[in-house]
Amino acid sequence: MSESNSKLSALAARLESVRIQGVEEIKAATNSKDLYDVKVRWTGKSGALSLLMREMKDLSPSERPEFGKFVNEAKNAFEEEYRLREASLKALEVSAQLSAEALDMTLPGPDRPRGHRHPIRAMTAEIVRIFSRMGFSVRQGPAIEKDYYNFEALNIPQDHPARDMQDTFYISESHVLRTQTSPIQIHSLEEESLPLRVIGPGAVFRNDYDITHLPMFHQVEGMLVDRKVSMADLKGTLTFFCQELFGSSTKTRFRPSFFPFTEPSAELDSSCPSCGGKGCRVCKDTGWLEMGGCGLVHPNVFRLSKVDPAQWQGYAFGVGVERLAMVKYGIEDIRLLVENDVRFLRQFPS
Ligand code: DAH
Repeated sequence: MSESNSKLSALAARLESVRIQGVEEIKAATNSKDLYDVKVRWTGKSGALSLLMREMKDLSPSERPEFGKFVNEAKNAFEEEYRLREASLKALEVSAQLSAEALDMTLPGPDRPRGHRHPIRAMTAEIVRIFSRMGFSVRQGPAIEKDYYNFEALNIPQDHPARDMQDTFYISESHVLRTQTSPIQIHSLEEESLPLRVIGPGAVFRNDYDITHLPMFHQVEGMLVDRKVSMADLKGTLTFFCQELFGSSTKTRFRPSFFPFTEPSAELDSSCPSCGGKGCRVCKDTGWLEMGGCGLVHPNVFRLSKVDPAQWQGYAFGVGVERLAMVKYGIEDIRLLVENDVRFLRQFPS
């Protein structure tokens, strides 16, 4: 065997072992990236195969084509193996990805926290519901009122001391944040035909803030106008209201009072639903709860709204929603109602 002949066999032997090893590695690659690295290592520019090719110059010209043929065969073998492995790895990877990202359509959706009505809303709705059943219809008015509607038309003239009873927020000389829902009475008298029965819930504003007062709170106003209306009608209606709200054994009490827009005027007290009138913390041991003011519509109020007091009579009342909610739900600090702490709010029925 000539020297170059033995060189050819040596190269061919090395080529064979390169091919065998390379094919082994291709088969062993467990992902496409490893597979690609294997390819570079064996067939890339400075890969094992290229290094062998460089040694071709040591062969005789007649041997070169033969060795070239071996090299091509080895390359083809690599490539064939590579394609097979690449295809099977891709398939594996796709199925792994599919199972990792699979959507289980039968799983329940994410649990969205559900909100519910604020206790003030719930209380307002309950009051309105009771009066609706007695034929009252809901009527609302603006939170920013003309001085006229909040005071004058309610028989509270400019320099009347009753204005001091209410710490008013003035928007301008002629406009206020309404201090009471009573102006809703005036809008009703001006716009509706008689007889009428209206219930007017709404936010009201006064410059006051402590454990029992908020600068914004809520009232529900009520008014009934008809041909013949007496204190007996008012008492019957409000007693029924308290019994609906607190239970049928509830008693009421009407204490003489003063409001410029009613004559006579009274404060409505309900027997305490917590202790049934015996006296407890909720009613401060009195057995009674103050619910709001009421009375028979003052003739001046009728006259200012162009209603003839000789023809029409009426009663009116106003109750505080926060106060009722505090009693009903046992809330001791009114400020909890506006802090919007969800731990507090969640305790109420939706
Ligand atoms: N508006 C009064 C207040 O805020 C409550 C009130 C009293 C309303 C007597 C009335 C009423 O309709 O007749 O203190």
